[in-house]
Amino acid sequence: MKPDIETRKDLFLLLEKFYDQLLKDATISYIFTDVAKIDMQQHLPIIVDFWEMVLFGAQTYKKNAIQPHLNLNQKSKFEKHHFNTWLETFDKTVDGLFEGKNAFAAKQKAKSIATIMQIKIAQLK
Ligand code: HEM
Repeated sequence: MKPDIETRKDLFLLLEKFYDQLLKDATISYIFTDVAKIDMQQHLPIIVDFWEMVLFGAQTYKKNAIQPHLNLNQKSKFEKHHFNTWLETFDKTVDGLFEGKNAFAAKQKAKSIATIMQIKIAQLK
């Protein structure tokens, strides 16, 4: 039996593994490395704050998580396959490390946020 996602440390582990995997996939990694040119070490704590807010109701993340994606989409289009890859990698990483109520909720939330993102991107077209 695997543990559930319970702490900020768990989120760091999950998200570190997730981005490690995601950035190995050249069909999506260029958005991070070439389009957004982000420094993963700076990005990671922000993403952890976000998931701490989503899963545990923490007040650590107070921005709009969707907007940066809409801005990036103006520079380089986000396609359906990007979302599929993102979600598949996220689900696989969660399932590889955790199981339980919060692990399930993380996958559900990721899916619904990705759906909202895609609707907002479609509205821009
Ligand atoms: C096609 C799928 C996705 C791609 C390619 C992608 C890519 C990126 C990139 C490149 C950034 C950095 C933006 C910047 O700092 O300039 C970012 C930020 C972020 N992404 Fe995504 N993302 C995707 C989907 C998602 C989904 C589904 C979620 C949530 C479930 C998410 C949550 C976040 C958060 C919280 C940030 C930080 C925003 C901030 O700086 O406040 N992303 N994403």
